[in-house]
Amino acid sequence: MANVTIIGAQWGDEGKGKVVDWLASRADVVVRFQGGHNAGHTLVVGNQTYKLSLLPSGLVRGKLGVIGNGVVVDPVALLAEIGRVRAQGLNVSPETLRIADNAPLILPLHAALDAAREAARGARRIGTTGRGIGPAYEDKVARRAIRICDLAEPETLDWRLDELLLHHNTLLAGLGAPTFGKAELMDQLLALAPQILPFAEPVWERLAEAKKAGARILFEGAQAVMLDVDHGTYPFVTSSNTVSGQIAAGAGVGPDAAGRVLGIAKAYSTRVGSGPFPTEQDNEIGRHLGERGHEFGTVTGRARRCGWFDAALVRQAVKVGGIQGLALTKLDVLDGMTTLQIGVGYRIGGETLPHLPPGAAAQAKAEPVYETIEGWSGSTRGARSYADLPAQAIKYVRRIEELVECPVTLLSTSPERDDTILMQDPFAD
Ligand code: IMP
Repeated sequence: MANVTIIGAQWGDEGKGKVVDWLASRADVVVRFQGGHNAGHTLVVGNQTYKLSLLPSGLVRGKLGVIGNGVVVDPVALLAEIGRVRAQGLNVSPETLRIADNAPLILPLHAALDAAREAARGARRIGTTGRGIGPAYEDKVARRAIRICDLAEPETLDWRLDELLLHHNTLLAGLGAPTFGKAELMDQLLALAPQILPFAEPVWERLAEAKKAGARILFEGAQAVMLDVDHGTYPFVTSSNTVSGQIAAGAGVGPDAAGRVLGIAKAYSTRVGSGPFPTEQDNEIGRHLGERGHEFGTVTGRARRCGWFDAALVRQAVKVGGIQGLALTKLDVLDGMTTLQIGVGYRIGGETLPHLPPGAAAQAKAEPVYETIEGWSGSTRGARSYADLPAQAIKYVRRIEELVECPVTLLSTSPERDDTILMQDPFAD
């Protein structure tokens, strides 16, 4: 049975919620493999709207949810989110949610450091979600993290906290921020332990069993390829690998488990936070896209920056993300615009480049090279087949396919689940 991996192909917020929900309804297990509660998925099911940050989307469909070891878990945020969705009637229990026992924890000192460092960066701040994601990943790689399994071992917590606090309090004090006391943190962790540990297990074993049983697994990416710590617009990125290859290390499965890799992209571009965005339209066009597309962050409520579709960037995401099919969302936001532009490359100084170069200064200077394409006057909203689309809208989609060198296998034409044109079933073998 085929598995499916879904990742963002731009800078996040591509409208993953709807597509992930549809895929989750057809999967047996849904797995998060990177990121943390910086992600935000809005799922509209019946008359309920679920806002998920850390929980795998499949829980809304009654599917087993797995949080892999590649995720950084804030136990307080996790319990709060469980409480919120339970209040909406969802069943979240150790039967429906399993969390990798080797996943690192996000503690209050991580958010404090995230905030203190962003403040110190001033105009060069990254625009993080302030959730402590970066500092938590740093601790994992530096071998200082406290992991979920440590909650079961007070004697381990004791010396792990010493090491952690030595590092963090030194930094926090240097940045002029309040420091943390060991006794208070220890008490917090010991109080959280009985609430978190029932969900913990070696999830690699469960996923190996699921594979043996022929279960369909959906790997649910968070953020997107252009925020990948290696392949994104560094340093204006998140702190995890967001590409499909990360499913293996981030969930404890082999790379073959990825199955079909679906990338999600909007029919235009948005970005939250700072960093290069060559096709940004900081003008009437951008404001029009933002208003029509309701471009406000799910997690932070920040207005998103908006611009034209950048095919050069998505083509790069297709290659480095191993994307085999593209789900194009929010085509209806472009309805009624007389002329559209697609970014096809970059100009820096006198030179024209097919891809964004890696240097931060070069990226900031890159001017997009555009291809102009006529818009359409009819509506694509709610279309459920290609026959429902204006001819010019079909041309736009076809041109995107050519430029990004990847077929559009799914087209979403409104937030409604059924307003989708499916060209290829990603779960088909
Ligand atoms: P962090 O992940 O909180 O460290 O933030 C780093 C960058 O990634 C910032 O520009 C954030 O705005 C961005 N980011 C993190 N998570 C998301 C997301 O789910 N959608 C869009 N942008 C995100």
